[in-house]
Amino acid sequence: MNVKQHRNILITCGPGLKDYLQAEVEALGFRVVSTHPGSVVTRGSYLDCMKLNLCLRTAYNVLILLREFRCGSTSALYKQISNVPWENIIAPEEYLCVLSKVDTWTINNSMYPNMKVKDAIVDRINRKTGSRPDSGSDRNNVVVNLFWKGDKGWIYLNTSGVKLSDRNYRKMPHKAPLRESLAAGIIMATGYDGSQDIVLPMCGSGTLAIESAFIAMNKPAGSLRTDFGFKHVKVFDKNIWEVTRREVRKTIRKDGLQKRIIATDIDAQAIEAARQNARTAGVEHLIEFNVCDFADTEVPQGDGIVVMNPEYGLRLGELEELEKEYKRIGDFLKQKCQGYSGYIFTGNKQLGGKIGLKTSRRMIFFNGNIECRLLKYELYEGSKQQENSE
Ligand SMILES: C[S@@+](CC[C@H](N)C(=O)[O-])C[C@H]1O[C@@H](n2cnc3c(N)ncnc32)[C@H](O)[C@@H]1O
Repeated sequence: MNVKQHRNILITCGPGLKDYLQAEVEALGFRVVSTHPGSVVTRGSYLDCMKLNLCLRTAYNVLILLREFRCGSTSALYKQISNVPWENIIAPEEYLCVLSKVDTWTINNSMYPNMKVKDAIVDRINRKTGSRPDSGSDRNNVVVNLFWKGDKGWIYLNTSGVKLSDRNYRKMPHKAPLRESLAAGIIMATGYDGSQDIVLPMCGSGTLAIESAFIAMNKPAGSLRTDFGFKHVKVFDKNIWEVTRREVRKTIRKDGLQKRIIATDIDAQAIEAARQNARTAGVEHLIEFNVCDFADTEVPQGDGIVVMNPEYGLRLGELEELEKEYKRIGDFLKQKCQGYSGYIFTGNKQLGGKIGLKTSRRMIFFNGNIECRLLKYELYEGSKQQENSE
C-alpha cells in the first residue's frame, strides 16, 4: 500500500452533522468531492487520514478506499476481495474486524457477505504468509468496511477503528450524556470560537463545556486517543505519526482564554463527573464549574452564548413537570441573558414551545434515533424592558 497515493476518503458522521463535518474537512484544507446524509467524501492519502482522525470533531470514521469493483454474487465478492494484496496491509498476527453495509437484491442480510470478506482476506494472507489473522467484532485493531449496493462493491480500510466520537475523556458518565461528536456539532452550530463568553447551565457530565474548551483552544478532538485503526496496518510509521501530531499541536492556542466558559448543574454529582471529565480532557482550568439551579447561573455582562440541554421527557423526567421547567428556562433567558444568543437543545417540540420566546432558527440533529432541535433565540437587550412594560 502506497501511503502517499491519493484515493477517495469517505468520512462518516451522525445524522444531522454532515454540514459541520464538511466545514471541518474544508477548514483542514481538503476539497469535499460529495456529501451524503451521513457522510462526506474527500480525496487524500493514508497519511492524510492520520490528520483527519486526529482533528475531526463531528466525524465517526475515516475510511480510505482500497478497491471499487463490480460483483453480483457472494462468490464474485470473495474473488474480488481476494485480489487485494492484503498481505501488504495486514500482518498475520493482527486481529481483523469486518463491517458490512449491504443493499443488493441477492442478499438480505450483511452477515454472509461479512463472513465472505473476512474469509477472502484471511485466506489470502494465509496463502501468502503461512498464517492468518484472528477475526471477530472487536474494533480495536484492523477494521475493514464493505459497502455493497446493487452490483457494485467498495472495500475500505477503516483508519479510525473505534468511532472518533469516543474521545477518551468521559470516564464518569452521568444522566443522558450527549455523544461527544454531537456536542461538538451543537457548539459549532452556535458559532462559538472562544472569542465570546459561553454559559452552559444544566451541563450534566460536561460534554458541551469540554467540547467548547477544545474548540476555544483549537485542541484536536483526538488528542487523548492513543489508538486508531491506522496504527494497526503494516505501513504505519510511528515517526510520521509523531511528526503529524507535533504539527497539529503547534496550532493549539496556549495563551489561555480571553473569555469565560461557565458550566453549572443542580446536581453535585453531575458537577463532580463534569470536573473529572474536564480534568481527564486537560481543560478543567478553562471551565468555571458551579452547583446551582440554572436560574442562579452567573451570566457575564455583555454579549455571549448560552446553551442548555434540558431533559425532554422521552428518556427522563415527566412531561408536566418539564413544561414548567421549560417555561422557567424561557424566563431565565429573557431576564438574565439579555444581549446573548440563547440555544436550547431538545428532543421534544411541544416542550420547546413552552420556552415562550420567538425562535430565530431551528436546526435539526439526532440524539441516537431521536430527532432533536437546536432552537436559537436572539435575546436582545430590550426584551426585559419590553416584557416589563406590557
Ligand atoms: C439531559 S441532562 C444534560 C446532559 C449533558 N448535556 C451531558 O452531555 O452530560 C440535563 C441536566 O440538567 C440538570 N438539571 C435538571 N434540572 C435542573 C435545574 N433546575 N437546574 C440546573 N440543572 C438542572 C440535570 O441534573 C442533568 O444533569
